[in-house]
Amino acid sequence: CGIVGYVGPRQSLSVLMGGLRRLEYRGYDSAGVAVIGPDGVLGTAKKAGKLAELTAELAEHPLADGTTGIGHTRWATHGGPTDANAHPHLGDDGKLALIHNGIIENFAELKGELLAEGVTFTSETDTEVAAIMVGQRYRETGDLTEAFRQVVSRLHGAFTLLAVHQDSPGVVVGARRNSPLVIGLGDGENFLGSDVAAFVEFTRRAMEIGQDQIVTIRPGSVEVTDFAGNPAESREFEVAWDASAAEKGGWSSFMAKEISEEPDAIANTLLGRVVDGDVVLPELDPIQAALDDVDRIIIVACGTAAYSGILGKYALEKWAGVPTEVELSHEFRYRDPVLTSRTLVISISQSGETMDTLMAVKYAGERGANTLSICNTQGATIARESDAALFTHAGPEVAVASTKAFVAQVTALYLVALKLGIARGTLEPGVVAGHLEQLLALPGKLSQVLETGSQIRELARGMSDTRSVLFLGRNVGYPIALEGALKLKELAYIHAEGFAAGELKHGPIALIEPGQRVFVVVPSPRDSDSLHRKVVSNIQEIRARGAFVIAIAEEGDVAVLPYADDVLRIPLAGPMFEPLLAVAPLQIFAMELAAAKGLDVDQPRNLAKSVTVE
Ligand code: G6P
Repeated sequence: CGIVGYVGPRQSLSVLMGGLRRLEYRGYDSAGVAVIGPDGVLGTAKKAGKLAELTAELAEHPLADGTTGIGHTRWATHGGPTDANAHPHLGDDGKLALIHNGIIENFAELKGELLAEGVTFTSETDTEVAAIMVGQRYRETGDLTEAFRQVVSRLHGAFTLLAVHQDSPGVVVGARRNSPLVIGLGDGENFLGSDVAAFVEFTRRAMEIGQDQIVTIRPGSVEVTDFAGNPAESREFEVAWDASAAEKGGWSSFMAKEISEEPDAIANTLLGRVVDGDVVLPELDPIQAALDDVDRIIIVACGTAAYSGILGKYALEKWAGVPTEVELSHEFRYRDPVLTSRTLVISISQSGETMDTLMAVKYAGERGANTLSICNTQGATIARESDAALFTHAGPEVAVASTKAFVAQVTALYLVALKLGIARGTLEPGVVAGHLEQLLALPGKLSQVLETGSQIRELARGMSDTRSVLFLGRNVGYPIALEGALKLKELAYIHAEGFAAGELKHGPIALIEPGQRVFVVVPSPRDSDSLHRKVVSNIQEIRARGAFVIAIAEEGDVAVLPYADDVLRIPLAGPMFEPLLAVAPLQIFAMELAAAKGLDVDQPRNLAKSVTVE
């Protein structure tokens, strides 16, 4: 869910709606706002559906605007996406409005207590329970911050809560446990947001809020305390990008824009980190001793980030010789993984807020492992919960399906692998130089790949009625096949699966029937002749059974021509670097196919960009 709060001299509705528009990628099942009007009366509006529905509702039934307000865009957990379940929820006297991100795990028990008191509910949400409780405590204390303090200690689970009360105009109070919340510091005005995108249009000065803390903003002050009321230290930071970075510009979608930014995402992630033939990562200093001693690495992540992790594994084992495994965050911590002080757990997360991954990091830390996170969002919770954090510099990613963050994650992982390889002496200096040269050449080569977009668009348009697409890859092409399939599922709602090409004959080949579309990521023939030959054999096996094959192959690779129905070309790169060029055509294909089907590329159904529940 996305959350925004405002106090200051402005009419808050436009601030809130602007913030929600920028946060909508966090959830778009329903949206709502609450504002304390000029007459001192709280007004709310909320609507199921995308933000446009709320905009229409406000046009039809205008809300008396005022200078204190909160807004919410929802990704449904408890209770379906209906008007009634949309946030804000009100206290039982209608004077308090509250919004929430996360899950209150003991809500049923709390709701039982309230029902016994005779309270009636208007929604099926866990949030309404918190709204009613804070409203009751406010009646007793007359202080919104104090009311929050008394309630949060009773809540289990993960939450960010924000509330306003009509008897306390000029005040917004927030609380966070595990779910994200940052403060935007203005001049005579202050903001709260799930991330800085909520307020970057107005201020680039931001402040972190730690776990289990309560924040009270007024036009001229910001107070942060722990749940017991003791003052808390907060770090201020400057947002590195401006509002235009999170705007669509002239692009048809955020996703199209973000794919076009992939060369920059790689270049910026490398910036200042490759110096005189060496890899410079001062961010790893806090875990230097642990790195010298590490005997095993476990990479934890979800979705696209987990696929970047597979490439990280291949690089870490190949270049640094450290045994590495990749695991989905939500599986990792429920299976008693063996962790020691010599284990390094690397988490990867674009948002830095994915709850499954955050919990995996905490679990690893509590059991004595060392933790390193690779995140793209400044001030991210996962970064703060880790012993060391390395940031990718892909810039804000708004489209729900991850694209530029993926290539930046792989770049960062490769840097870590090279750094470890250099430190451990597992890489010859000449080899390091060659790899660094390849890395630095990637942005230019990727720009060439992006120029082939129109060929891919044509291909996609001709396939808009396709029901199933398979993706094959081998070695470093394998995670690319998985990612290509994920993109197509996410965006075009087409059944798609990625396979290791060698595994096909062990079962999935039974799926091949005449006309079955299959993308194949073909390894370079120059660097790994035997692997190339094997993949070409795999292509022949499926062609013999009627598959329609689209090969992604290096320029000059003529061996695939007799067997492929279509070839998408990528420039020459070393075998480990090819994946960073092969993924863009698959991302573009999924995007174009979704567009051809008339679907919303940036906000696919049922998804949210940052899933802050487990
Ligand atoms: C969600 C998104 C995916 C994303 C995954 C991990 O499921 O829909 O696109 O890959 O979360 O997100 P993270 O922010 O941790 O990289």
